[in-house]
Amino acid sequence: MFNEMSWGKKNRMGQIIQADGRALMLAIDHGYFMGPTRGMEVPSKALEPLLAHADSLMLSPGILSSSVPVTFRGGKVLRASGGNVILDEDMSNEAVILSAQQAVRLDASAIAISIYVGAEYQHQTLMNLAQAIEDASDYDLPVLGVTAVGKEMKEKATDKRFLALSCRIAAEFGADIVKTYYCDGFEEVVAKTPVPIVIAGGPRLDTYEDILRLCHNALERGAVGVDMGRNIWQSEHPAAIIQGVRGIVHGGLSVAEALDLVNSLATDENRRTEVFAAHPDDAAVQTKH
Ligand code: R5P
Repeated sequence: MFNEMSWGKKNRMGQIIQADGRALMLAIDHGYFMGPTRGMEVPSKALEPLLAHADSLMLSPGILSSSVPVTFRGGKVLRASGGNVILDEDMSNEAVILSAQQAVRLDASAIAISIYVGAEYQHQTLMNLAQAIEDASDYDLPVLGVTAVGKEMKEKATDKRFLALSCRIAAEFGADIVKTYYCDGFEEVVAKTPVPIVIAGGPRLDTYEDILRLCHNALERGAVGVDMGRNIWQSEHPAAIIQGVRGIVHGGLSVAEALDLVNSLATDENRRTEVFAAHPDDAAVQTKH
C-alpha cells in the first residue's frame, strides 16, 4: 500500500492536486448528513455556474449520479463514510457507505473518509479509515482523510493541537491527502503531517475578504489548496468568489488582487437567489458543523 505510486494512482491524484501543486476542490457533500443544505437545495442548479472553475468536486455518490453532467471533466472525490445525521447528539457514528469498487465504477479520483478523534465513536471512524485505505489500495484509488469535528466546530476546529493530532493520525493510517480546518499556527499542523493538506472553509464568513484571506493564509502556511463549500455556494455571488479563490490558489494573487477580481465579477446577473426561504432552525444548526 505504501509502495511507489502507480500510473493510475498518480493520474487520479493529478485530478485533485494539479500540475502546479495546488488544488481547488469544491465541497458539496454536506447533504450526506445535513440534507438539503442552504444554498445547495437543488444541487444541479447551484453547481451550474461553478463547475468550470473547480479542479474537483467532493460529493456523495448520489449527487454525482443525479446532478453532475457526465460531460464534467474535473476530479471527483466521493464521500465514502456516513450514516450520521445532523439531528444526532454525537455526530461521530459513521460507517463506510461506499466501496472502492463502486467508487471506481463512478470514475472517482479518490474517496473521502471522516475521522472523529476524541469523539464517542473515534475508534470506529479510525477503523473506517483503515478499512477504506485497504479496500482502495486494490484499485490504486487515493483516500482523502477528513478530520471531522462534529458539532463542536468552534472549540475543536481552531485548536492547533487537536488538528495536528487528527491530521497526523490520518496520515499515519495512510491517507493520501488530509482535509482539515485552518487555525493559528497552521504551519505546525502542516509540518507534522507528512501528506498534502487542504482546508475546509467552515460556516459562512462575513465578507469576501475574510474568505480570500483564509485561503491565502492557509496556502502561505503550507496547505496545497482548499476543499471549500459553504463559503462559495452560500455566498451572494458564488461564481465570483470561486474565481477569486481560484486566483489565489492557482494564480498567485494577493488578497487585495483577488478581492478586486471578485468585486469586478460580482454582478446582479450572477447574484445567488434563495431558492427556498431557510427555516431558522435549519439555518442555525447548519452553521454548527
Ligand atoms: C464536512 O464534513 C463536509 O464533508 C464538508 O465537505 C466540509 O465541511 C467542507 O465544507 P465547508 O467549506 O462548507 O466547511
